[in-house]
Amino acid sequence: MAKHSITLTVNGKSTSAEVEPRVHLGDFLRHQLNLTGTHIGCEHGVCGACTVLVNGDAVRSCLMLAVQADGAEVVTVEGLAAEDGTLTPLQEAFRKHHALQCGFCTPGFLITLTQLLRDRPDIEEEELRRELSGNLCRCTGYSGIVKAALEVAQAFRTREAAR
Ligand code: FES
Ligand code: FES
Repeated sequence: MAKHSITLTVNGKSTSAEVEPRVHLGDFLRHQLNLTGTHIGCEHGVCGACTVLVNGDAVRSCLMLAVQADGAEVVTVEGLAAEDGTLTPLQEAFRKHHALQCGFCTPGFLITLTQLLRDRPDIEEEELRRELSGNLCRCTGYSGIVKAALEVAQAFRTREAAR
């Protein structure tokens, strides 16, 4: 199958590649860029494990073709922490509240919450749980994940109030 040239920014780095038109963004990230932190579960847009940021929005990378990401800015779970390995407050909160067990769903939750808490730091628990229903976790019952997210939202609001 003829390949297409694409150029995109991934985790702050400009990247060019040749891709087959049938390859979805998740497989491209994992197999061509070796960014295996993005997990592929259902490939049907149901589980949320493959979620990445595309131009700042949380997107199912299994439902987007790599060629559609030409020119886009993509952030995967590998791109969240600082270059020196310093975790984001959300990653720290996940660690503190045991928000991961097998960790399969974790990249998707971190990416989804990165956008959600950025856009809605005032979110309350009920709505947070509703928003997170698009990401499936079989291990934690969501309580650690929700606790971590609410703590980060609260810290953000406290910082804003102090300004
Ligand atoms: S692998 Fe993309 S939503 Fe499940
Ligand atoms: S931590 Fe295992 S599926 Fe979520």
